[in-house]
Amino acid sequence: MPEITVRKASPVEFKKKPAAEAQLGFGKIFTDHMFLMDYEKGEGWKNPRIEPYHPLSLDPAALVLHYGQEVFEGLKAYRWSNGQIYLFRPRMNYERMNRSAKRVCMPELDVEFALEATRQLISLEKDWVPSAPGTSLYIRPNMIATEAALGVQLSKKYIFYIILGPVGAYYPQGFNPVDIYVSEKYIRAARGGLGEAKTLANYAASLLAAEEAHDLGYTQVLWLDAIERKYAEEVGTSNIFFFLNNELITPPLHGTILPGVTRDSVLHLARSWEMKVAERMIGLDEVISGLESGKLQEIFAAGTAAVISPVGKLAYQGKTYLVNGGKVGPLAQKLYDFIMGIQYGKIKDPFGWMMRVA
Ligand code: COI
Repeated sequence: MPEITVRKASPVEFKKKPAAEAQLGFGKIFTDHMFLMDYEKGEGWKNPRIEPYHPLSLDPAALVLHYGQEVFEGLKAYRWSNGQIYLFRPRMNYERMNRSAKRVCMPELDVEFALEATRQLISLEKDWVPSAPGTSLYIRPNMIATEAALGVQLSKKYIFYIILGPVGAYYPQGFNPVDIYVSEKYIRAARGGLGEAKTLANYAASLLAAEEAHDLGYTQVLWLDAIERKYAEEVGTSNIFFFLNNELITPPLHGTILPGVTRDSVLHLARSWEMKVAERMIGLDEVISGLESGKLQEIFAAGTAAVISPVGKLAYQGKTYLVNGGKVGPLAQKLYDFIMGIQYGKIKDPFGWMMRVA
């Protein structure tokens, strides 16, 4: 593995660490250092380095700024009560990043090297990993196209970088039910498009629908399939689960859905508990009749940032429906407790998911 050079910030440049960890919020504070490396066609990845956190200098014609060649990831480092720091299934993030990169014609990373870079950066920044309950260090790996060119083309130059920041709850309401608006006007992704890649266009595509939902008083949007506008796909930036008739159902990974690490972990846990589990399409007609008959017990979202977000209310075609009386359901609670328990070292890790980094 190539050696990572380290240029440390001088202690006088160190930022003040947040005093009130319980009020951290999400994604506003960044640590003192970042990891970077460069790619050039014909040469591959080179110059891996850790440097003081700094703004990037980009040519205004850099291809990422015009045609959107970008992929990213999101994962977290957790401080255990013994002071050790762990990542949750980090290999899955870098493997997904490589699949995302392929989809937008960007170079792949050596997964083991990316993990080692992540480990070294976190070890240098370990004092930034918060310890208040529910807090963690969010890790954002990012890859962008940097060649200056205005013709639509593949960039011959890229940078990969990793930034870190302490975070608390993603939603201000914490682990409490969120209200969801089913979007019939906009779609997030169509088959053959970019939906399963973690790339910027999917998030740009989601903003207007989310704004309109916020204006109506909802936290997030439930996305429907692009063709029939009938089947549930995702909720906000997370995967969606329905607990119907004692069966846990989530839409299948057929190209439009982000293959979430938390999604996969929920499926693993539910199967290990010998629950009935199905990865299949589920139509809003089935969801609504389940809500009307009481057979639809719970709806929740699963993602790295918010872990499990129970849905308390669903708005569809001018009507609003309460889910589980608007309260956190027992399955969402059990999954949340188990996943967080494993992540924070409070429950034995039955699947070898945790990787120690410091
Ligand atoms: C997640 O971790 O669930 C997300 O996708 C949110 C992230 C883009 C901030």
